[in-house]
Amino acid sequence: MDLTITGEGRLQVADAGKAPVTLHPVWLRERLPDPALLDLLTGQRLHEAADVPTDLRVTQAALDGAIAFSDGFASHLPAAWLAEAIASETVSQHVHWDGTLDPAQFPTADLAAVQADAAALGALLDGLDAYGFALVRGVPLELDGGLELADLLGPIRVTNWGGMADVKAIPNAYDLTMTPRHLEPHSDNPYRDPVPGYILLHCLENDADGGDSTLVDGFHAAAILRRDDPAAFATLTGTDVTFRYHDATAFLEHQAPLIERNAAGAVVQIRYNNRTEMVGRLPIDQLDAYYAARAKFWQLIAPASPLTLRFRLQPGELLMMDNYRLLHGRTGYRLETGSRHMRQCYMDRDIVSSRRRLVHSA
Ligand SMILES: [Fe+2]
Repeated sequence: MDLTITGEGRLQVADAGKAPVTLHPVWLRERLPDPALLDLLTGQRLHEAADVPTDLRVTQAALDGAIAFSDGFASHLPAAWLAEAIASETVSQHVHWDGTLDPAQFPTADLAAVQADAAALGALLDGLDAYGFALVRGVPLELDGGLELADLLGPIRVTNWGGMADVKAIPNAYDLTMTPRHLEPHSDNPYRDPVPGYILLHCLENDADGGDSTLVDGFHAAAILRRDDPAAFATLTGTDVTFRYHDATAFLEHQAPLIERNAAGAVVQIRYNNRTEMVGRLPIDQLDAYYAARAKFWQLIAPASPLTLRFRLQPGELLMMDNYRLLHGRTGYRLETGSRHMRQCYMDRDIVSSRRRLVHSA
């Protein structure tokens, strides 16, 4: 790497075969691994960044040597740290898929393998990030067997309904999940804030007629909508709707769009839950646009659509799903032909991404 200080006092770093990178003096200053600036264990900032002069200039810089700034602050500039600082920031590599995805491509692992080997766990979590789901086999056929996978990742998300919960037909069901009815593609619990990040669905029994699992890549569906009907995409990303669940013991409500983007415009979350979504009393023309856009999106994700992936979970398998990306559902089943018993729990996103980063940096 070669260093140049530009006329504006910025640090330009040239590395063989790569385009030069110009670093803002304040950006550089905020991040320098200097114990006066940062706690070197946690990376937490110790100084008040907003007090650094915004017209700061670099006045001196040498690799593995001194770096100095126009306000008089001086420190050391480690070459290895600088190389990392100019590298591209890690981004997720999402692989979009549709109903033709080959089961051989499903991110899959045996529980025993990921328990024994952190690299295998890291590969599974990479697959989960890329595809939005992962399948774990060899999970004990015990009521809380799914917690053996959860324990590798971190604490589960406990809600007002508890932690690990049954997904099976019961009398007086408080949710359609607990009936043998088919379930349209949906994301779970959009009425919570934050929405649960991942669903861990553990199969204990599945020998009734029907009861196949369905998955849709919501990010893929959103990309198709964005390409084919930008106005509908703009409506669904620009309209906050209300998601609400209430019964005698809980009143859960959250307002958010069906398709959420980050500041850079990338889609980061899909909320689709027909049972609990209610748009507000908007002006008539906005409602016209909303209902038409919602119908367009539904056509993309509906059970008969080419985007729908359908497969059958076997006892001892656990399906981990990204609840910000995938829409899941199931075909109806007939109780008189057998049993279908699943258990599920939730995990928050930061818990899962933390484990992924730790296993990769170990
Ligand atoms: Fe669900």
